[in-house]
Amino acid sequence: MREAWIIDAVRSPRGRGKPGVGSLSHIHPQRCMAQVLNGLRAKVGFDPADIEDVVAGCGTGSGDHAHDIARMSVLDAGWPISVTGVTLHRFCGSGQQAVNFAATGVMSGQQEAVIGGGVEFMSRYAPVHANGFHANNEHLLGLHPQIPQGISADLIATIEGFTREDCDRYSVESQRRALHSIEQGYFRNALVPVYNLDGTLALDRDEYPRPGTDMAALAGLKPSFLGLGAVHAEGYPATFDALARAKYPQVKEINYMHHAGNSSGVVDGASAVLVTSPEYARKHGLKPRARIRAIATAGTEPLIMLTAPGPAAQRCLDKAGMSKNDIDIFEINEAFASVVLKFMKDLDVPHDKVNIDGGAIALGHPIGATGGMLIGTAVDTLERTGKGTALIAMCTGGGMGTATIIERM
Ligand SMILES: CC(C)(COP(=O)(O)OP(=O)(O)OC[C@H]1O[C@@H](n2cnc3c(N)ncnc32)[C@H](O)[C@@H]1OP(=O)(O)O)[C@@H](O)C(=O)NCCC(=O)NCCS
Repeated sequence: MREAWIIDAVRSPRGRGKPGVGSLSHIHPQRCMAQVLNGLRAKVGFDPADIEDVVAGCGTGSGDHAHDIARMSVLDAGWPISVTGVTLHRFCGSGQQAVNFAATGVMSGQQEAVIGGGVEFMSRYAPVHANGFHANNEHLLGLHPQIPQGISADLIATIEGFTREDCDRYSVESQRRALHSIEQGYFRNALVPVYNLDGTLALDRDEYPRPGTDMAALAGLKPSFLGLGAVHAEGYPATFDALARAKYPQVKEINYMHHAGNSSGVVDGASAVLVTSPEYARKHGLKPRARIRAIATAGTEPLIMLTAPGPAAQRCLDKAGMSKNDIDIFEINEAFASVVLKFMKDLDVPHDKVNIDGGAIALGHPIGATGGMLIGTAVDTLERTGKGTALIAMCTGGGMGTATIIERM
């Protein structure tokens, strides 16, 4: 099988995901994705007519995210009408899956130059996934009752014995690392400023991080999902709390500890990663930044839902013929603090190697866009630190995980 090379990766800044508050919230998601595509083109200098497909992750699929946001963004970018776009949904792992599918097309020899990435404007819908993901399918609800993700995060923490202090300490460090990376300008290489229709600047920096976040500040925040546990949603046989305890009878009571400061931030953004064959890169004089060594997915129990990054990472390591000790840095999506704490426990990797530029707790998690952002951050971090290999993994709705291993070139 031939190699798939990452030529470059860019992203928009992450804007706060509240309408009227976030600096991107008034911009159409397609317009933002289009600007990111053009940012990638300007940075790399490829001819857009060469792009065989744009694969975009999006975790919504309705309203302003409806239909095929990838193709519409290509058209909005002013690219030739010959360039196709396809949109995919693997919940929070959509953007990573988009890059992995771009790599698959290239590795298989069917495509030469493909862009993977994604877009999500969380300011355009609220609240996030208030119920489970069965979409009113009563039969599925009977087989696999699913609950809001925040409760799943608290269930993981309860089962694993993580405390509120563990989650808050992890999150304070995420904020510290993200702010340090911002101050040092580590994200500048990947950032594509986003402009308004009148040409004025909308946003050129991440606006979610909160300087001054410390344990005392987080201690004052109330658990966000405590009340939700008592909800008996229409069509469900019991409250979310009772369903969780029925599935995990060892849990007598869910210890609710996730809140606004130790959960991923609700934000808007878009990402794009150019993946090509070695032949295409050589022919056009493009310098590759990384090769994709392996990609994988894994499924785990769908009620607890957020436990698959470890199994996906292990499967990816097995495919690459590597062990965790061969990986220099890990980018694990900070959907909730307990997700990353469990990953580090499952694979026995130290925090020093994980999310060294901070993560979604500080920066935000624009669902379909995040995977492309994490892969881009991993490439930048490998170059900056002179290290060789990175593993990127995410949890997703429905109890799945996505994983990618890349190697700096
Ligand atoms: C947890 C969650 C529900 C909180 O949402 P929210 O209540 O709207 O969050 P806000 O940003 O308004 O913050 C709530 C409060 O916490 C405060 N806060 C947030 N982060 C803080 C920090 N780091 N330090 C101190 N205070 C903080 C805010 O200032 C706000 O205070 P206020 O009410 O006095 O204004 C939301 O962030 C969420 O759903 N996150 C997860 C998203 C998700 O599920 N993604 C998919 C995952 S796989």
